[in-house]
Amino acid sequence: MTLQAFREAARTVLDPVHDDYVAGGAGEERVLAANERAFARYSLLPRVLRGAEARDIAADLPGAPGASPVVVAPTAFHRLLHPDGERATARAAAAEGAVLVTGVASTTAVADVVAAARETAAEPAVWFQLYPHPCAEVTAALVRRAEDAGCSALVVTVDSPVFGRRTRDLRNGFSDLPPGYAAENMRGLPGTPPDVLTDIPMSPAIGWEEVTEILGVTSLPVLLKGVLHPADARLAADRGAAGLIVSNHGGRQCDAVPAAVDCLPAVAGAVAGRIPVLLDGGIRRGSDIAVGLALGAVAVGVGRPVAWGLAAGGESGVRQVLATLCDEYDHTLALCGGRSNADLTGDMVVREGLPW
Ligand code: FNR
Repeated sequence: MTLQAFREAARTVLDPVHDDYVAGGAGEERVLAANERAFARYSLLPRVLRGAEARDIAADLPGAPGASPVVVAPTAFHRLLHPDGERATARAAAAEGAVLVTGVASTTAVADVVAAARETAAEPAVWFQLYPHPCAEVTAALVRRAEDAGCSALVVTVDSPVFGRRTRDLRNGFSDLPPGYAAENMRGLPGTPPDVLTDIPMSPAIGWEEVTEILGVTSLPVLLKGVLHPADARLAADRGAAGLIVSNHGGRQCDAVPAAVDCLPAVAGAVAGRIPVLLDGGIRRGSDIAVGLALGAVAVGVGRPVAWGLAAGGESGVRQVLATLCDEYDHTLALCGGRSNADLTGDMVVREGLPW
């Protein structure tokens, strides 16, 4: 099944309100559209006569050596999409050798997510995503939970000082999880009321001090997700981040930012190899992965395609989505004369007819 077929299949099984929650973006959904459209402006300029019978597409990522170049980006509330929820996603990602970024907005507790991943791989890589909480004690408690569960890295999302205005959710009145579902990682945190488990607090006043505090309470590598400006990329590397994810939150936050892939070359240039850079937003085919890696990413994240795979086919659906992307990428790498990811270089990408 193609990724587009999974998208259509998800539409037929999901409650339309939940389908909108996954598919939608902020504002007029300009950025949502731009993320995907941007890849059509990039072409690959293959090298010839230097390939290999079998290619090595493994990526060395923080806390995940030899991982798939496709990372499962953090997306909220998987039990709304399939009864097996995050457990199914975890088993699938682990079986495909892909890093799963689970997060604070999971409808399954992080310890249970990691346990599920261990059902299909001896040493799965699960990262934990969180928003810096206005209260340092809460952030520290969340970090401890992720460490105790066996996560191998943290992802701090920094593009959400306030919540994005998601047009479809506002129109549909979707703001709360239905009864019986909760953001399980919020349960029992200091100062969190026992019955309000859908509200994930954000604060516009969060700054680099909060990031530094997180770095101080953990020995896990900490990646920052949602960096678009090269100056912030430099600051992140200077402050000790272990990696960056160039991302505009899949077009769900500010509806006036550039397509994520268009921000990648400047960010990669700014950190100049000091820390690894990942990309997410609009990745829908293997050649998108090749463009991202050639422009300086070590791996790419996918959000909605995984959600659609989960909705349409549970664990097997997620596995097929991840396997399809890797297979298409491997094929593209072969067509570009590559033996491994490092063979894709910036000179092999042409943007609207102009070499970078
Ligand atoms: C997200 N994303 C997200 N990011 C994050 O840091 N924490 C979160 O809880 C969520 N939740 C979430 C829910 C849903 C339904 C979507 C679609 C996205 C953003 C996600 O990690 C990623 O940046 C984008 O999804 C990437 O774009 P694509 O692959 O969906 O085009």
